[in-house]
Amino acid sequence: MTHLFKSVPVKSYEITPKATYLSRRDFIKAAGVIAGSAALAACAPSLVEESEADVPFNPAYVDELGDPANTYEEITSYNNYYEFSTNKEAVKSLAENFNPRPWTVEVYGLVNKPRTFGIEDLLKLFPQEERIYRLRCVEAWSMVIPWQGFTLASLLNLVEPTSDAQYVRFETVYRPEEMKGQGSAFYPWPYNEGLRMDEAMNDLTILATGLYGEMMPNQNGAPIRLVVPWKYGFKSIKSSVKIELTNERPNTLWSTVAPNEYGFYANVNPDVNHPRWSQASERRIGELSRRETLMFNGYGEQVAEMYADMNLQLHY
Ligand code: MTE
Repeated sequence: MTHLFKSVPVKSYEITPKATYLSRRDFIKAAGVIAGSAALAACAPSLVEESEADVPFNPAYVDELGDPANTYEEITSYNNYYEFSTNKEAVKSLAENFNPRPWTVEVYGLVNKPRTFGIEDLLKLFPQEERIYRLRCVEAWSMVIPWQGFTLASLLNLVEPTSDAQYVRFETVYRPEEMKGQGSAFYPWPYNEGLRMDEAMNDLTILATGLYGEMMPNQNGAPIRLVVPWKYGFKSIKSSVKIELTNERPNTLWSTVAPNEYGFYANVNPDVNHPRWSQASERRIGELSRRETLMFNGYGEQVAEMYADMNLQLHY
């Protein structure tokens, strides 16, 4: 299997100062680094000037398709996090006082070595790698995000799943005092998600602890959240406190609320429309025109095999 992503340990001295990466996306466009960006650059003379200045540029912040990462500002101010609000622009300030320390993640169920990990243990036990992934929300917008974290497989291998384990269930923290959205009776809190065992063990599946070389911002799921880049964003559950290995397919929050709209698999698929909108294209945050949505969000080479025997029209 080929690995199309960058997988490098993040060292603090390699991390670009925030002021630099905030403008990197503009810089990339201006410099014409990305094929097809010349027109954009031509429309933005002020950005061309910026490119001529001595702006340090870390080419790592481009995904394997050549798409530049979204800015830190974009990634941290437009968030889906219903525990705080259904208003994406409001999440950032409402999550400001959320306290991600102390934090534990309990890993239990069908495993030989159940264990509760403190967040510090997780950061020490597993080398943090950088993964620049596309995130495609089921609502048809997308971003490119430079996460750091470690593979879910490395954590699961440590607790030794038994041969009966077929699924992994994830649960977000329940703190209605701090997370006012959890007061809404419309959703079955706490937020739950699940993966099949082979999906959980796939090398693309990570537990992310930060982005752009910084600790995970509260609004993005501090201190630790799942990232499954070939599935719609709602599978990538934030602020996880429980990881359970089970032999039953977990009920997930979204498939409970609207089973005909949000299936268990939720693989990005331009050929299967949401009942209320098309999934054929998407709006990349920061871009003017829409782009075509890619099957498995462009990660087919690494994941398509897992679904070879399934009718993806039925198992959405
Ligand atoms: N996890 C929890 N606990 N609560 C949520 O509301 N929203 C999901 C997912 N994880 C959500 C969640 C959805 S719909 C998306 S698109 C992504 O988080 C958004 O992640 P981001 O805000 O880091 O871009």
